[in-house]
Amino acid sequence: MIISGHNPTNVQQAAEALCAGQLLGLPTETVYGLAADASNETAVAKIFEAKGRPSNHPLIVHVATPEAVTKFASAIPNFAQQLMAQFWPGPLTLILPRRPEAAAAAAGGQNSVGLRCPSHPVALAVLKACAAKGVWGVAAPSANLFGRVSPTCAAHVQSEFGDALLILDGGECDVGIESTIVDCTRGVPVLLRPGQISRTHIEQACGLKLVSPESLSTEAPRASGTLESHYAPSAKVRLMRAEEWQKALIALGPHTQNLALWSVEKPTEDLRGAGLFWRAMPTSAAQAAHDLFGVLRDFDARGVRSIWIETPPNTQEWEGVRDRLNRAAA
Ligand code: TXA
Ligand code: MG
Repeated sequence: MIISGHNPTNVQQAAEALCAGQLLGLPTETVYGLAADASNETAVAKIFEAKGRPSNHPLIVHVATPEAVTKFASAIPNFAQQLMAQFWPGPLTLILPRRPEAAAAAAGGQNSVGLRCPSHPVALAVLKACAAKGVWGVAAPSANLFGRVSPTCAAHVQSEFGDALLILDGGECDVGIESTIVDCTRGVPVLLRPGQISRTHIEQACGLKLVSPESLSTEAPRASGTLESHYAPSAKVRLMRAEEWQKALIALGPHTQNLALWSVEKPTEDLRGAGLFWRAMPTSAAQAAHDLFGVLRDFDARGVRSIWIETPPNTQEWEGVRDRLNRAAA
């Protein structure tokens, strides 16, 4: 059931559902989450079951304030403090050493925990209402079935989990791709997942160089968002340079069928067969991130068999979008 997140009574109802161990579709500025009380093992188990996600893949725990971090993290290095001060509330998740007694199931048994304070007003309102009832953290992975495209509006969540799930409608997500994840347990900041907050932003905020996970001797824990194939629609996704899709369309001639194209330029009329669905790819990375998952879902809903996507520029601001596209195409 979808209810408006802008109605305070509904926010209370949602917080009560969470505190009673139920699941909730929760809007955030990045993507919608499938939320549960992070300290309630039974409730957390429901998330893994509903998503079909392996229970050793850790979930992100959402908090209302930086202060609530100490309920879950046993230590906060200086550079993590600086990142929180700069980017919270916002689309940044920090991996910190976990208090042994806190949120073990949500952390997938890791001795670390991923924490994030979202900026979406509805998410913050729910988290504050939960904290007032003694529930300090809300675990929420993206509200999609394991391996599928993340949801960026309430209707997407309903299409994944059906009408039985209570979903707070907070409108379309502003950012559109999941939070940037920085591992803060290794003495230096390690970028585990790129997002809207770029490398340069992070390095400037904490005065340290970001390290990439490949350069570390010990492996980071296995995590859904970092699997090679993820965010995948049913159709086959191919990344192609503009010249490549243009050539390929010429080769197909008028016989394009069940084909979708997301590109900056609209194909000229002679290249557009009747079976081609086209959507404009924005030239701004932020706007493209905002549109990305909705476009993939839209193409899928049209029943296309192939999705061609123009390879985005190889610049830092496009890193989050490139990362999701590479996994969708894998
Ligand atoms: O934007 C977001 O982060 C969204 C919204 C709902 O907040 N949430 C999200 O959650 O993307 P999820 O479960 O789809 O991604 C969680 C990822 C894991 O796949 C993993 O990469 C990382 O967070 N993670 C969480 N806890 C971790 C830990 N203790 N150690 C390493 N990675 C962790
Ligand atoms: Mg996800």
